[in-house]
Formats: sequence, structure tokens, C-alpha cells
Amino acid sequence: MTKERILVTGGTGYIGSHTVVELQNAGYPVVIIDNLSNSNRDVIDGIERITGIRPDFVEGDCTDLPVLAKLFTDYPDIKGIINFAASKAVGESMHKPILYYRNNLNTLLNLLDLMGPNGVKGIVFSSSCTVYGEPDENPVTEKAPIKKATSPYGNTKQISEEIITDVINAGAPFKSVILRYFNPVGAHPSAEIGELPNGVPQNLIPYLTQTAIGIRKELSVFGNDYNTPDGSCIRDYINVVDLAKAHVIAVERMLENKSDKKIEIFNLGTGNGVSVLELIRVFEEATGVKVPHKIVDRRAGDIEKVWADPKFANEVLGWTADSSLADTMRSAWAWQCKLRERGIM
Ligand code: UD1
Repeated sequence: MTKERILVTGGTGYIGSHTVVELQNAGYPVVIIDNLSNSNRDVIDGIERITGIRPDFVEGDCTDLPVLAKLFTDYPDIKGIINFAASKAVGESMHKPILYYRNNLNTLLNLLDLMGPNGVKGIVFSSSCTVYGEPDENPVTEKAPIKKATSPYGNTKQISEEIITDVINAGAPFKSVILRYFNPVGAHPSAEIGELPNGVPQNLIPYLTQTAIGIRKELSVFGNDYNTPDGSCIRDYINVVDLAKAHVIAVERMLENKSDKKIEIFNLGTGNGVSVLELIRVFEEATGVKVPHKIVDRRAGDIEKVWADPKFANEVLGWTADSSLADTMRSAWAWQCKLRERGIM
């Protein structure tokens, strides 16, 4: 059976590109729209090398309504959307709140506006565990209270969830699956695609692999005086390919009407909390490469500990995050080595 076309906004980005691969592997025709603000065209070659299929690509900005409207005219067969097009750096959002609200909210509003008239059946939205703030209890279920956002980035995720809910409750003729990611890490096992941050990485894994390869002198571990067994912060690190696969299940669920609910929310995590110091150890053991590191002060705004209860996604979607953390660390390292080989990093 031919599958229906999926629009992947932000499809050349980190999670977007891995999801395009899994969609194509599952037989979905894809069109990507991306403004290449935090990615580049080579990613499409990587996707083609992995899957043997070159996804259609439109260079454009989703905050531009006429550009998006034209896309729907050019591709009248789009039946589902996965929205990854968003700015995602927590620190940057503190300095450039307007950019974050404009990019993240206008993109979503434009998509929601165009879905009904163009017969799109559903939208998968990339949300984040950031909506739980510092949770009262771990692991965190989807029923945990939403805490006041500590950054404009986090606030855009909360507001976006509310916008989707309001639009659908007002009778919009489509469904939505909201996915709250914990900490996505690693790269495709082929090392053809992976995370490629601009400038100095803000997130742990790219900083760690850049340190391991010698681009950075040492990794700063932000704090060892937290109320955790070794004093460093705890997160739930989920393999990006496992994460991508959940999107394919979510799309199928909406397009094939497998649920009678119009909005569903799932946590996507492994269920395991891992500290920064443990993660460094797992990386070193898995790759045999040392990561020079030192303990520094806490980073403002960091959550002490958060990890997922993924039971709802496990049971309802039939999805689990299967990859071992050691394999995931090896994939991140293979990707860093590939970037070096290509002379990019
Ligand atoms: C943050 C956001 C999350 C967002 C993600 C992607 C919050 C609470 N979380 O995750 O919503 O999706 O960024 O941008 O806002 N660390 C170091 N040294 C480093 C870098 C990080 O020790 O050089 C530590 C941090 O203190 C943290 C852990 O590593 O404990 C993970 O940090 P990071 O990769 O930046 O992700 P989060 O802050 O968890």
C-alpha cells in the first residue's frame, strides 16, 4: 500500500533528519522544508546515502505564510506534518526572546492555519521535558504538573502545547500527537547524519565528543554539589534513532485513525536517569577514549534531576527506547570522527 506524504519541517536538523530516514525506511514519501538556519544541504545527501531515496526539499522559512501556502499547493498530497522547525538553545532564548517566540510560535500558527484547508489529518509536535521544570517526583509521568517555564525557549514549548489543544478543542478537523523528548543524543549508526551544532556546543554530548577529539581542551561539568548520588545532574539520555522511530508510530497512529483521541501526549525517554559523571564514564568505557574534564560551578537554570516514566508510550505506542547507552555513545563518537575525516570539525 502506498503511504501518504509527510511534511517534515526542520527536516535537515538533528532530530528531523533522523526522523526523515525512519519515515523513508517505513515507506513514507517526505517533503522537507527548512531554512537551513542551523543545518545545511549536505544532510540531504546523508539521508539519501542511508535510505537510497532523496527526500524532496524546499528551502524556506515556516514563519513565512505565503511560502508555506505555496508548499501545500505544490504538494497537495501532504497528509501529515511533523514539526521540528524551531529554535532550541535555552541560553540564546534568554537574550533573544522575540526571535524564539516569533520562530517557534509563528511556525506553529501558520501550520495549524493551513492544515484544515489543505486536508492534512494530523501534526506531530516536538515538545520537551522542559515543560515539567524541576519535577516533584521522578520518574516523570505525563500527568506531572506543568511548571512555570524558566526560559523563553521552554515557554514556547508550553504555549505551543496550549495552542494545539485550543485549536483542536475549537473543532479543527485534524489530530495531534505531542511528544515530550527527554535528552536526545547519539547519531545514526552509519555516521552519515548526526548533530552538528553551530559554534561552541551548549549541550553535553557535542561538547564531550569535541573535547574527546581535541577541539576543546576540557569539558566543564556543571556542579557536583547537587542532591544526587555523585553530586552531578541527572538526565534521561535517549538515542536519537529510537526517538525518530517513535515519530513514525505517531504519524501512523494519526493517519490511520488508530486512536479515537484528537490529542495525545507522550513522554519519550528511556526511564533511566544517568548523571553527567556516569555518562562521561560510559563514553570512556564504550570508546576507549578519555574525556578531560573538570568540575565547575553550577549552570544557571539547570534542573537537578529529571527522567521519564515512558510506560504510557511503551504500552500505547508499542514503542521502547532499546539502544544501550554504550552503543549510543559509540555512535556519537563515530559521528565526531566522521566530521573530522570530512574536514568539517
Ligand atoms: C536543555 C533543555 C531541554 C532542551 C535541550 C536542548 C531545560 C531544562 N532543558 O536540556 O528542554 O530540549 O536543552 O537544547 O531547559 N552539562 C555539563 N557540561 C556541559 C554541558 C552540559 O555538565 O558543557 C550538563 C548540564 O548541566 C546538564 C546535562 O549536562 O546536567 C545536560 O545538559 P544539556 O545537554 O545542555 O541539556 P539540558 O540542559 O538537560
